[in-house]
Amino acid sequence: MQRRRFLHDLSRRAAALALGSLFAAPALRRDARAAQPLPPNGDYPFKLGVASGMPRPDSVVIWTRLAVRPHEPGGGLPDAPIAVRWELADDERFSTGLRSGEFIALPEHAHSVHVEVVGLRSGATFFYRFIAGDVASPIGRTRSAPALDADVSRLRLALASCQHYEQGAFAAHREIAGRDLDLVLFVGDYIYESSNPRYRLRPHEAGTPLTLDAYRARHATYKLDADLRAAHAAHPWLVTWDDHEVENDYAGERSPSDLGVDAFLRRRAAAYKAYFEHMPVSPGVLPTGPAMRIRDRFAWGRLAELWTLDNRQYRGVQPCADGRGAGGRVLAQCDELADESRSMFGADQERWLERGLASSARRWKLLAQATQISDSGVDTPSGRRIYTDGWDGYPAARQRLLRAIAEPRLADVLCLGGDVHRHVAANLRLRANDARSPIVASEFVCSSITSHGLSEAVTTMLRASNPDMLHARSDERGYALIDITSEAASCEFRATPSPAQPDASLSTQAIFHVESGRAGVLRG
Ligand SMILES: [Fe+2]
Repeated sequence: MQRRRFLHDLSRRAAALALGSLFAAPALRRDARAAQPLPPNGDYPFKLGVASGMPRPDSVVIWTRLAVRPHEPGGGLPDAPIAVRWELADDERFSTGLRSGEFIALPEHAHSVHVEVVGLRSGATFFYRFIAGDVASPIGRTRSAPALDADVSRLRLALASCQHYEQGAFAAHREIAGRDLDLVLFVGDYIYESSNPRYRLRPHEAGTPLTLDAYRARHATYKLDADLRAAHAAHPWLVTWDDHEVENDYAGERSPSDLGVDAFLRRRAAAYKAYFEHMPVSPGVLPTGPAMRIRDRFAWGRLAELWTLDNRQYRGVQPCADGRGAGGRVLAQCDELADESRSMFGADQERWLERGLASSARRWKLLAQATQISDSGVDTPSGRRIYTDGWDGYPAARQRLLRAIAEPRLADVLCLGGDVHRHVAANLRLRANDARSPIVASEFVCSSITSHGLSEAVTTMLRASNPDMLHARSDERGYALIDITSEAASCEFRATPSPAQPDASLSTQAIFHVESGRAGVLRG
């Protein structure tokens, strides 16, 4: 914990206010005259840490949320705007290249702070912090993206997902925090709304969240984990979500529970709002009711283009959902599987991605989305059985995605996913598991940070049923280190046996790579 007296020089304060208003997004700005300083001598207000994200060649988003009692409604703070100073500099002592401003943290946004700092040097490292009253936050480190036309030699990222707080310690985040990385790419299940008493090593703060205050408290529980805070403070993050940020197996406007559409959309609005308030995303994506744009597109010089995709908000209901509003099932056959109109991304996002892929001039095209794209059905004596919540339940949408890669003859498309709680390296073909069908793209899926995986018996059947899946292991938790150069993309699966203990260390489970110009994953 670091504390520092802040000089209350009136003219500096006025200059900072002017600067801050340049950087604050209009949606989050409010008349600064109403803002109060943090009440003095209170509890530490930066318990939830600091974070950064969405790096662009000239900007990055820095985040914090003020809360002295993070599980309480209002975070234990007055129901009033609070002035927060932000600083970003080239060095940890904040002595060179200092930029600063003031942000007015609003109670209606849980006193969260999202500042898009613009006008930055590209491809550079920065340090940032926040000051409220006389208290300074921890210092975070971040990076801007390289210039769009830069000949970048390397992109290193940690691919992670599925961090059920109750099911283990965040040892993987401790390792991620200590790595030399450009990015953390988190592809969903950042929080879990639900519990499984069988695997509960440390409890959530309360039962299943349904309201905004309850989702805020759930996010606070996760951010109170020191290893997760360290991973945020060490690197900029790119994020997308899966289902557990709202409710397991939800599909668009439909809930698998008894909630009708209107009630579910109110719940989704609360969950998206709490997600926004706790993540280092641009102030411009502040949700409107139950809608929030999480999909985005990023570039890393001429080396790579990366799409963060949304598998949940716009998807059609899972096929043959068995009388419920939505929900995944294991099944062998169902007429709705053949329905061409069913979509995982929704029509708009499909078109946006298809156009983006076709027009991309960058070498590597990275598709970051929540789950495994390659087939993961299991052959049984009564036929092949699939789980309908994943891409196997959306076969026509998967064909459209693969054709959007194959028809323009795109090389170097690498799909990055999570959700399935197993490390996976797989080939993607237009006709899955058919060696005569050419490989059109490569896929790496990361295991979970903590969430429990399938039994090894099932995973063994999975491997035997899918020759395209060159690697699949469900018995260890971890993340994937992805290292991209112009020649190759390599993937090192880092892992620890489940459940992760607080002092667990990770080791390398397997290494795969993809050569530029030749789709397909290769061992070693
Ligand atoms: Fe998960």
